[in-house]
Amino acid sequence: MIDCHCHILPGLDDGAADLEESLDLCRWFVRHGYTEVVCTSHRTRLYPNTAETVEDAVAKLQQELDRLGIALRLHPSLEYRLIPETWPVDRLLTWQDNHILVELPINKPEKMGGIIPEDEIRLLLEKGFQPVLAHPERYLWSSPGDYERWHEAGAIFQRNLGSTEGFYGAPARERALYLVSKGWYGFLGTDLHNRRYAEFFDTILR
Ligand SMILES: [Fe+2]
Repeated sequence: MIDCHCHILPGLDDGAADLEESLDLCRWFVRHGYTEVVCTSHRTRLYPNTAETVEDAVAKLQQELDRLGIALRLHPSLEYRLIPETWPVDRLLTWQDNHILVELPINKPEKMGGIIPEDEIRLLLEKGFQPVLAHPERYLWSSPGDYERWHEAGAIFQRNLGSTEGFYGAPARERALYLVSKGWYGFLGTDLHNRRYAEFFDTILR
C-alpha cells in the first residue's frame, strides 16, 4: 500500500517537528500495512520548499529508516500550492511516473491571484503530467460547478483519510461524501502531519 500525501519530513513544514516524530510516523505507516510513501512537503509562501530540499531530507530520513530496519520506502515530492509566489515550478517532482499533487488555498481563493485551476490542470496534462488535486473537500469556498470544471479539465481528486469521518468538520465531510457519490476521487491520502493525526486515524484503520 502506498500513501501519496503526507508531511513526515522533519522540520520542513507544519508536519513532523523533528526526526523522532518522523520516525514515529514512519512506524505508524508500517503498522498499518504501508510499504511506500510519497513525501509531499508543502510548497507554500510560508514553506517554500524545493525539489532539492525534499530530495535531501528524504535521503537522510531513508538512511535512518534503513539503519533502524524500518521497512518503508520514501519518495520525494511536493504538495504544490497554486499561488503566484510558488507556482509555476521549473523541475516538478513526480510520483508514479507523471503524477503531481497540487492544492488550492484552503480558505482564501483570492490568494491564487490570476491563476485559474482548470487552466493549470490542462497545461500540466499537455506537458505530460497527471495533476492530482489534494483534498478538494476542504475548499469550502468552492461550488459544485468548480468541482465539475476541475474534474472535466482532467484532475484526479485525492480524498483525505478522515474527511468522511469528520476530522476536518461537518462541511468538509458533506463535500467528501458528495464527491464520493460523483465518483471523482482516484486517490486516498493520509495527509499525515503529526501524532495527533495518527491517533485519530488509529480509530478509523482497525
Ligand atoms: Fe498536505
